[in-house]
Amino acid sequence: MKKTLIYCLLVLLIPAASPAAGDKEKPLYKDPKQPVEKRIEDLLSRMTIEEKVLQLNQYTLGRNDNANNMADPVNDIPGGVGSLIYFSSNPELRNRVQKKAMEQTRLGIPILFGYDVIHGYRTIYPISLGQACSWNPGLVEKACAVAAQESRMSGVDWTFSPMIDVARDGRWGRVAEGYGEDPYTNAVFAVASVKGYQGNDMSGTNKVAACLKHYIGYGASEAGRDYVYTEISRQSLWDTYMLPYEEGVKAGAATLMSSFNDISGVPGSANHYTLTEILKNRWKHDGFVVSDWGSIEQLRPQGVAADKKEAALKAFSAGVEMDMMNRCYDNHLADLIKEGKLTKEQLNDAVRRVLRVKFRLGLFERPYTPASSEKARFYLPESLKIAEQLAEESIVLLKNKDKALPLSKVSKLAVIGPMAKSQWHLLGSWAAQGKAEDITTIYDALQAEYKGKAEVSYSLGCDFDGKDKSGFEEAKALASKSDVILLCLGEKKNWSGENASRSTIALPGIQEELVMELKKLGKPVILILSNGRPLQLNRLEPLSDAILTMWQPGTPGGKPLAGIISGRVNPSGKLSMTFPYSTGQIPVYYNHRQSARPHQGKYQDIPSTPLYEFTHGLSYTTFQYGEIKVSSPKLKRSDKLSIEIPVTNTGDRDGSETVHWFISDPVSSISRPVKELKYFEKKLIKKGTTVNYRFEVNLERDLGFVDGDGKRFLEPGEYYVIVKDKKVKIEIED
Ligand code: BGC
Repeated sequence: MKKTLIYCLLVLLIPAASPAAGDKEKPLYKDPKQPVEKRIEDLLSRMTIEEKVLQLNQYTLGRNDNANNMADPVNDIPGGVGSLIYFSSNPELRNRVQKKAMEQTRLGIPILFGYDVIHGYRTIYPISLGQACSWNPGLVEKACAVAAQESRMSGVDWTFSPMIDVARDGRWGRVAEGYGEDPYTNAVFAVASVKGYQGNDMSGTNKVAACLKHYIGYGASEAGRDYVYTEISRQSLWDTYMLPYEEGVKAGAATLMSSFNDISGVPGSANHYTLTEILKNRWKHDGFVVSDWGSIEQLRPQGVAADKKEAALKAFSAGVEMDMMNRCYDNHLADLIKEGKLTKEQLNDAVRRVLRVKFRLGLFERPYTPASSEKARFYLPESLKIAEQLAEESIVLLKNKDKALPLSKVSKLAVIGPMAKSQWHLLGSWAAQGKAEDITTIYDALQAEYKGKAEVSYSLGCDFDGKDKSGFEEAKALASKSDVILLCLGEKKNWSGENASRSTIALPGIQEELVMELKKLGKPVILILSNGRPLQLNRLEPLSDAILTMWQPGTPGGKPLAGIISGRVNPSGKLSMTFPYSTGQIPVYYNHRQSARPHQGKYQDIPSTPLYEFTHGLSYTTFQYGEIKVSSPKLKRSDKLSIEIPVTNTGDRDGSETVHWFISDPVSSISRPVKELKYFEKKLIKKGTTVNYRFEVNLERDLGFVDGDGKRFLEPGEYYVIVKDKKVKIEIED
């Protein structure tokens, strides 16, 4: 109803098409045969200050589906606006507005349409935190390519993804959107996503521009609260937060989004050091930076700008080129230039960057999105296959006591819990144009999996939260008649994502009580979790025979999980983020810095080690790691090093195993983390066979470290290469 109203208003607002006035001869910038840089300069030379300023603004078009972002809609959208956030899945509205830009403005500059395509557009993939547990960047690249194809064909040219904020506090709801706690892992998946979204040529009709976000340090949000202050030293900025961005920029990411957080007194959206000195001057990024929604005007509440005009001045001078729904640039940039506070050259540089992305996307040649049926765009068989495989590989088997899983010889399964019949919550946050009604529930998937083999029955037990235990008796009655209890618990969709912090990462009491009650029956308990963050499982772990997290799997829903329960699929996921023993341990992550007294400083009341460590994850088969072999244990700085480890599948079925290569540098001029992930590789190992894993080490890149200004250095001395419980020494000579 609302959508139709906006649509009708737009139709009324857009006057009938008339030919653009001006040059009779085709201007150079419209000639696709000319080099992009020449086209940009030609176009710039024709633009007025007002036209330039308008290119640096982004408004919304249509329904705003992010409940956290409130703003008055811009009703009469000017054709000369730089960008719009596009909430419709039908290209028709886009084309109508684009027509206004192309035909009713003096220069006919196409509008760039952006949208949050975070883990899929219509075909929804598991949340990014889950994707990382697959340790399969090739598959993630394919998933992003599908998201790009569905988006571009629906009228979206630009996704605000990937989010690559290293995050170590599970209370922060946005851990769901990134690739976990490790800098290298985030970097690898940043590159994979950029490649998937943009391909080699963004002008393809199935490609979109990527946006690395949120630059930078947003994942360090104090106490897991959203939008707040972060305390990040220059040293931590470089050794923890920068790598994913540096690699994403190298991979060619067209844009970045500046963050909300204040970084030790200088907000991410007013930070000249990160936005200009590093990004533009050192890394030579030639695309543009868009502010996060409102992050320019929020410089006021953050205490560094007195009013919107000063906020515009600070953000623009720092290096933010596009204003996302702040209404700061459109209202103040021209005045700031007239007053001499900003220069025309600064304005030109910003506009040049925005135009460059538009040219590279091919928008000047193909401003409109061809009409196509939803069938031609969405849920293509190959897209669904990728989604299913990624969801399978994301699932992590956390515990499997006495081979409780798979369930091959059972006749009666009791499926209990509030997640069992949910479609909505399996979508996860930021589900773009995903449709819950297309998702197979866990219960339906188990029914299908065991059809003709076992009886699958259901009882709710309890809701996600609250105090109502009235369903406990029915659940107990069902469970007592069954061979095994499958408890489907977890978090609602909106318990993670933006503005979704929680003070505890344990499940609500009612869910824990349900497990305790059912455990009393003496039947095997299989805990199936769907969650958007690591959970506190210390009370549930002793009560469960097996525990799996399926994260929020998106469109494939319960089917991949059902395959793992039955044994059709062998689990291969490993954690991309530590599961603490309890919330009180947070922050707890594998690559913490070294302690002055490693054997002291423990908690008095709880264990000091996490419940499940980074990279923990079980398989239905067993793998035995051999000894690490190095090509040479003593090296000069310029030498090459290769390292190998044999891994044997000693179990009775084929399985995929990811080998994680860590290094440690016990003595350095800057104290380093206890260990650092430098490489990983996943391979299928057939039962009874041995496969060699190989790591080609680049000494400076993999053994070296960065200082507080990002300068990489390699010191002589001893280093260790670590794989699981194997460790080997390497010496770098002076
Ligand atoms: C979020 C961004 C998102 C933007 C646009 C903001 O609130 O922080 O991640 O891209 O909204 O929806």
